[in-house]
Amino acid sequence: MAIQRTYVMIKPDGVKRGLIGEIIRRIENKGLRIVALKMLRLSREKAEELYSVHRGKPFFESLIEFVTSGPVVAMIVEGEEAVNVMRTLIGPTDGRKAPPGTIRGDFALSVQENIIHAADSVKSAEREMWIVFSKEEVVSY
Ligand code: RTP
Ligand code: MG
Repeated sequence: MAIQRTYVMIKPDGVKRGLIGEIIRRIENKGLRIVALKMLRLSREKAEELYSVHRGKPFFESLIEFVTSGPVVAMIVEGEEAVNVMRTLIGPTDGRKAPPGTIRGDFALSVQENIIHAADSVKSAEREMWIVFSKEEVVSY
């Protein structure tokens, strides 16, 4: 067991639909701690950096347009096995296939507009969080 930090982001569709509170409630109810939090509109540059692993894929351009289409809520979330625990909380990519009880399963019906992002590994989390946050924006309890 290990305390990990992960990068989580409520996407523009989640913000537009008024799901910020609901999503933060689920993260806190699970017992994870938010150690950094902010609302921002991603620049194209930052969006492309965040999703750089998908550069060249057919959905890349559409994904970048979507994640820059409105404000997002970015977080660093900490806790036991935080990376895998957050991936389990959000559910699989395709909202149509995500099981009920997961964030995507309960709120999404699309592959692209799937409400929330969470880093898929400790390494991705470490890379992604510093695209959006600076060290001074992370609190300690
Ligand atoms: P995320 O990175 O946002 O947490 O999502 P994920 O790991 O579940 O899925 P990933 O394969 O990394 O895809 C990143 C995001 O790109 C959009 N997408 N669209 N149209 C498509 O086929 C397609 N595939 C992926 C989704 O917004 C997905 O979350
Ligand atoms: Mg991903």
